[in-house]
Amino acid sequence: MWTAAAWAAAFLQISSAGAAPADDTDWPLLGNNAQMQHYSPLSEINEKTVTNLGLAWSADVPSLDGLVGNPLVAAGAVYQSGPQGRVYANDVRSGRLLWRFDAKTNFEGDAYPAYKSSRFNRGLALSGDRVFASSGDCHLFALNRRSGAVLWDVLACDPKRSYGITGAPRVGGGLVFMGNACADTGQSRGYVDAYDQETGRRRWRFYTVPKDQSEGNDSDVMRMAGKSWGAGVLKRSHGCGSAWDAMTYDPVLNMLYVGVDGPWPWSPAERGTDRGDELFTDSIVAIKADTGEYVWHFKETPDDGWNLSATMHIMLADLDIEGRRTRVVLQAPKNGFFYVLDAKTGKFISANNYLPVTWALGVDPQSGRPIPNRAANYWEHPGTTSVASPGPTGSHNWQAMAFNPATNLVYIPAIWLPTLMSPDPKAFVGGMVFDEYFGMRGDPKWRAAGYLIAWDPRTQSQRWRVELPSPINGGLLSTGGNLVMQGGPDGRFNAYAADSGRRLWSFDTHESIMAAASTVEIDGEQVILVSVGNSASAIIGTYLAKFSSTPATRGPTRLLAFKLNGHAALPPFSVPPISKPPLPQQSLELAKRGETLYGEHNCAGCHGAEAENASGVAKDLRFASAQTQREFSAIVIGGSRHDRGMPAFPDLTPEDASAIQAYIINQAWAAYNTDLPPRAN
Ligand code: HEC
Repeated sequence: MWTAAAWAAAFLQISSAGAAPADDTDWPLLGNNAQMQHYSPLSEINEKTVTNLGLAWSADVPSLDGLVGNPLVAAGAVYQSGPQGRVYANDVRSGRLLWRFDAKTNFEGDAYPAYKSSRFNRGLALSGDRVFASSGDCHLFALNRRSGAVLWDVLACDPKRSYGITGAPRVGGGLVFMGNACADTGQSRGYVDAYDQETGRRRWRFYTVPKDQSEGNDSDVMRMAGKSWGAGVLKRSHGCGSAWDAMTYDPVLNMLYVGVDGPWPWSPAERGTDRGDELFTDSIVAIKADTGEYVWHFKETPDDGWNLSATMHIMLADLDIEGRRTRVVLQAPKNGFFYVLDAKTGKFISANNYLPVTWALGVDPQSGRPIPNRAANYWEHPGTTSVASPGPTGSHNWQAMAFNPATNLVYIPAIWLPTLMSPDPKAFVGGMVFDEYFGMRGDPKWRAAGYLIAWDPRTQSQRWRVELPSPINGGLLSTGGNLVMQGGPDGRFNAYAADSGRRLWSFDTHESIMAAASTVEIDGEQVILVSVGNSASAIIGTYLAKFSSTPATRGPTRLLAFKLNGHAALPPFSVPPISKPPLPQQSLELAKRGETLYGEHNCAGCHGAEAENASGVAKDLRFASAQTQREFSAIVIGGSRHDRGMPAFPDLTPEDASAIQAYIINQAWAAYNTDLPPRAN
């Protein structure tokens, strides 16, 4: 029963979200507490009882792509967001849909980032009676938490100038913080905005990249940053350096820590020889939350040729370090090292790599600067290719880590995807050799793998690790029941013992899991919530769509709730029958040309490398109907599906389009011959 006092308490908790630890009936911030630890003290479901964990209910979510921001819970409702700026509110007791919101993403014009960004939506923020949501085409919305009605709507960036939004808004101190993405176009200049929660009025903007020095920068901080770039580079490219995901608001120090993406162009050879740290790319920047003033920055990856962004989860903790209680920033950026920094000053405390790293020989224990490994600088070795680990996917990407105060361990969803890099400008985006983007096939030393790693931030060493069946896996939840929970593309939702890594429980959801789980107490019972659904778009730009599912994970998008002794059954779903491709096998020569064009025009960015498994909103091209095959040119060159998110490619000739079509048809035959089932959506 919800008494008036309980409602009021829940309401209070949300409005002061970030200050006090969350009430256990709510999960108010993506990371639950202000430190973004993805931890709940709840312990009814624990290492002993977890064997009795079962499904309480499931709710189908009307989204073709899976949801990846973990569920937020307030006063009996679960809030989630999904691709194309949709927001869903469900009853936490039954899963019943309470309301939904559609941002009606606008695909007008040829703004590629809006298309691409609309397929990612990494979650929501709650504060008081409001839900804050974003859309790929740059809108930031304040919605009424009970009805979903729009309270205000601002354009937080310009989709016509190569901006999009992929990250979740963050809240604190009466403000909403919003970053943006350049979708690897290099055509936009990253920044973070703060808006008044009540009115939507912009309070401040902090640019994460300066203007080119020759164009003049208007503050000491931007002038300092301007000097760190090669002359003229920012006139040609605007640098990217966007804040496309992690930002953490710290109510104790009144700080916003922002993780910044890598510089553009990707290859340092194109960024001038006079370049320095190219601020604030690949850095964490601490900004005064109420005013937007710069406080400190820490540069993680100088001379970045691999897009080793620092946009990953920024966690806070109060740890005893050399006998002193210290508030620290913890991060595993893409670059393979785990960093501990002093949250107040940005001073480097320690770093160590949790997986093998090729781009650096180590980190200087005093300064925290990497010790470069020149042999790995592919741009300095024309005519060769070299293996990079981590590659541009990173050793860790956007998926949430978790911290457990009982074990003092940080849990990392780690990725091992070494990538061949080449100085050949024709290689896929900035040096990545596209064909070989999936680990070094055939060589066991470089075989792609995924790990769940338990890391001790005080000793910078691994406590345990579990090898997972696939390289890219879901975000994490840790609980007071000595548990760590994680799902993956094989559809299994697993519970591990937080202290030993022993797998204690596993449930087959029949659909890929990339989102982290959340947990709350409802009517005295602990409930674990997790979203499942096609994660091709969520899995780092769809290039890696083949790692996003297995033939066993073909179900619809769903929100699942688990509790002890739950015995609901997952509703059945049907997948369409495997049908014969509507056109015969095409000439290998034509298909080969098509494959090159498919790569050059970045079709893979939405439809998956090798046209495999993209599915969801962008559909799996291998299962296109006879009608679609007839309309192929009209769709691809003419833009007849423009309003549904499929850009026009007017630069392609009809012959080019036929070649791409031939390539896709042959891929369809390959799938047909291996009996690969299509998906439910
Ligand atoms: C920014 C994302 C994006 C890119 C890049 C992209 N597409 Fe699409 N594509 C879509 C979406 C979204 C749809 C689904 C439209 C709809 O609902 O019919 C689609 C649909 C299609 C369809 C129709 C599929 C069907 O079964 O109905 C074809 C064919 C297609 N795309 C080909 C291509 C080719 C070829 C390229 C590269 C030249 C490409 N696309 C690049 C997003 C993209």
